Amino acid sequence: MTADDNGAGGDDPPLFYDRHVFFCVNERPDGHPRGCCKAKGSVKLRNYMKARAKELGIKRVRVNNAGCLDRCELGPTVVIYPEGVWYRCETTEDVDRVLEQHLRDGGRVKDIMLMPDDR
Ligand code: FES
Repeated sequence: MTADDNGAGGDDPPLFYDRHVFFCVNERPDGHPRGCCKAKGSVKLRNYMKARAKELGIKRVRVNNAGCLDRCELGPTVVIYPEGVWYRCETTEDVDRVLEQHLRDGGRVKDIMLMPDDR
């Protein structure tokens, strides 16, 4: 069976957004053993990313708030689809690099990229 036979994929409409950025803004109570991205500044960083994407003229990218992405210890966590590439964005400089190098220029920011085995 091919993708066209089962109706999957072949007739999909064009993408509405080229990419979605999911930025974890989950909050946990103080003292939770896993911590949370909000306590590491993710709300400000996410707001910065959204505003800066507009300033840079990066189009067809949606920067969304996300709930817990279950990689709390590595946060603030960001995942970009459809690539499925994860980053730890701790500073506005990290956000700028993801915007400019990944989202605008199609590259990667290797030193803050999370690998599947990172814990
Ligand atoms: S709180 Fe951000 S990944 Fe869990």
